[in-house]
Amino acid sequence: MDKVSLIRYSPDSNDSLLTAKLVECYRGVFADEPWNEWLKCQRCQKFWGTRDSGLLAATKFRHCDEPLVDFWPRDQVVADIYHEITPKSSCWLAVSGDIVVGFCWGYPITVPDLEEKLGISLNSNLGTNGLIAYQDEVGVAASHRGKKIAKAMVLRRLCDFLSQNLTVGVVRTRQYPEPSQTFLWYTEKLGYRILVNYPGDDGRVVLGRKLDGLDELLISQ
Ligand SMILES: CC(C)(COP(=O)(O)OP(=O)(O)OC[C@H]1O[C@@H](n2cnc3c(N)ncnc32)[C@H](O)[C@@H]1OP(=O)(O)O)[C@@H](O)C(=O)NCCC(=O)NCCS
Ligand SMILES: [Zn+2]
Repeated sequence: MDKVSLIRYSPDSNDSLLTAKLVECYRGVFADEPWNEWLKCQRCQKFWGTRDSGLLAATKFRHCDEPLVDFWPRDQVVADIYHEITPKSSCWLAVSGDIVVGFCWGYPITVPDLEEKLGISLNSNLGTNGLIAYQDEVGVAASHRGKKIAKAMVLRRLCDFLSQNLTVGVVRTRQYPEPSQTFLWYTEKLGYRILVNYPGDDGRVVLGRKLDGLDELLISQ
């Protein structure tokens, strides 16, 4: 397998080929386990992952009498990337050969703006009246997982946050019905605690911790 390098990325860098590779990596990560967001039915909103490709081929990639559509259309992913990755954001890509195999980004935001974005009150004294570090996305292609690529990208992002004098990190993830890998990683290894649970049986949670000392946990384990 090719060596993996980490590179800083901004959609404004005029490297549209790199943007295209990021879009494909993003779509591949979420099309796979555990999210299975590959194709969906426009009518009933049911969706399937790449693990279901045989089943879908047998039904001619149709449901409710209509052809299935991409769960994450490329134009929407590009729009999200331009929206989320601004000059103030920290974004790192993992590149192997000429393929993007991982991504990680986040940005400073005020608590009220984050509450609006997440659609929930954080109900918590985060120990800051200023900006906090929102850890927006991290993903690694299934073929490259378990090699500490996410850890390396998260450490680079943390260094960017610390150089912006941010002191608190916040992330949204999933605890139920199955805890996502990031929930387990952040709570069991990296010392994040639950700030708020989404209401009902939604399973999503917002986690946070002070960034001080986090670098030691990411470097040492
Ligand atoms: C979560 C994800 C980014 C981890 O990427 P990765 O490169 O495989 O992770 P790393 O190898 O850097 O491991 C980071 C930590 O995850 C945990 N981890 C990694 N592989 C694991 C496994 N197979 N089983 C259990 N825990 C595991 C460990 O705690 C590990 O830290 P440690 O090495 O200090 O013990 C990757 O699984 C992924 O892209 N998942 C789908 C997308 C997603 O869920 N993103 C987050 C929500 S937006
Ligand atoms: Zn349907």
